[in-house]
Amino acid sequence: MQRVELEIARLIKEIEYDEVTKLFAMLSGGKRLRAKLILKIAPNHEKAPLLAAIVELIHGASLLHDDVIDDSHTRRGVASVNATEGSKTAVMLGDILYSKAFTELLSFDKEIAKCVASSVTALSKGEMQDVKMADRFNSDEKKYLDMLYLKTATLIEAAATASALLAGKDAQKHAVYGRNLGLSFQIIDDILDITSDATTLGKPAMNDFVEGKCTLPYIYLYEALNEEDKKRLERSHAQKTEESETLWIKEKMKENESIEKSFLLAQKLSYEAMQAVEDDKELVSILETMIKRSY
Ligand code: FPP
Ligand code: MG
Repeated sequence: MQRVELEIARLIKEIEYDEVTKLFAMLSGGKRLRAKLILKIAPNHEKAPLLAAIVELIHGASLLHDDVIDDSHTRRGVASVNATEGSKTAVMLGDILYSKAFTELLSFDKEIAKCVASSVTALSKGEMQDVKMADRFNSDEKKYLDMLYLKTATLIEAAATASALLAGKDAQKHAVYGRNLGLSFQIIDDILDITSDATTLGKPAMNDFVEGKCTLPYIYLYEALNEEDKKRLERSHAQKTEESETLWIKEKMKENESIEKSFLLAQKLSYEAMQAVEDDKELVSILETMIKRSY
């Protein structure tokens, strides 16, 4: 992973703007899941660290913009750039990072460049759907999962596919792996938003629903509630929820096993991902570690 960090630092230096270097240093790197995946799939390819750095810059840029869109003041446990430097700076820093990443993509085969670049259009579409869906209570599971695929899974899918292409491995199988890993990862994130505390999350707990996001546990809960309780849940949507209401939601989720149902889907998707790359122990272990995050 050190090779990836060095590549990232090199690309930032090449931007030749001290302000960007300074701002970038303030960001927390995060889990670097996408970079780890690329190195695991193409460990011996000399351009794997560059591909990983590109994908991490794109991911970082998308989070900078996402925090502006969501008006989030914390990211990965530290104050977000929009909170400390303002939204304009956060948007512009994001623009610089992802355009630099796109420039670097030019040194790769067309198929690899297209795979990564088109995933960014997909994730932007996903973000737009996410924002639109937050306007009203959504109880449509398919609509939610389609959005999730675009918003979170496409970049992970592209990272897996592009690195498989780089390493001369089966791109199709790795695409299935990446897509299911991405979906499973996001569903677990949605669960953690409900089951973890703010310190562990690095952002306020149970915030998704306050932001208007009806994640899978809320969709499953809604399906299980009677008409009166359905209305009660709808009334809490996109509100600064009172403590008593938060407790009611948690209690109802427990009663109806909404978290367990969501976790089962995450497990099923992980299982499908594992099957796609059956023989690759390293990739299976990434999945296992991720699934364990929820405990
Ligand atoms: C986090 O979602 C957001 C994303 C995974 C994608 C955001 C994508 C864009 C803003 C499109 C623009 C892309 C570029 C490259 C500039 P979340 O809000 O559910 O998760 P969070 O709790 O981590 O904020
Ligand atoms: Mg967000």
